[in-house]
Amino acid sequence: MSTDRAGAAAALAARVRAVEDAAAQPAGLDRLAVAVRGCRACPELAATRTQVVPGVTPRAARIVLVGEAPGAQEDASGLPFVGRSGQLLDVLLAEAGIARERVAVLNTLKCRPPGNRAPSRTETATCRPWSTRQLALLDPAVVVALGLSATRWFLGPTSLAAVRGRVHERDGWRVLPTYHPSAALRFGPAGEPRRLLLADLRDAARLADQGS
Ligand code: URA
Repeated sequence: MSTDRAGAAAALAARVRAVEDAAAQPAGLDRLAVAVRGCRACPELAATRTQVVPGVTPRAARIVLVGEAPGAQEDASGLPFVGRSGQLLDVLLAEAGIARERVAVLNTLKCRPPGNRAPSRTETATCRPWSTRQLALLDPAVVVALGLSATRWFLGPTSLAAVRGRVHERDGWRVLPTYHPSAALRFGPAGEPRRLLLADLRDAARLADQGS
């Protein structure tokens, strides 16, 4: 490894350790959210965001939905999935018979990448301890990974086609990979992504009922 790459790897490891330490301290989800909001570990994201989006974490949640990163409307409101994808998600959750208070909603990245670019690997690694700790405190019956980024966050390099439609056990979580609502929007109301996302949410509801 070159000296530059070794230096960058060491700097990233130190950043991740600092976030791990910060995420380990708060006693509960509300205090953890306060700590997430104060995070400045990714300099570009801290400089360009309007608000940090820690997620929504109702105590009674048995299902955790995990998306990729906040978009413009989430950045403005501080809440996850409030834009067009979020509105479709609300419709599909209702169709699947899942009450909002049973669902926590997180993103793998808590800040909006400028211009909605894809999160970098460094940003995703740095932010990871926040969601890991939220999952530990929520202790859900099932986690639904929305889209490829969230799926890879849990399962590592893979494609959605390879893993969708099955439950995967990872780090003690039951993970159900599925389409992101933005794919369902892109392919329209009669498209496969919408149909399969709804079917997967129904599966998640069934698993949550079995597991509680
Ligand atoms: N897309 C995501 O992945 N997360 C959001 O919060 C909004 C859109």
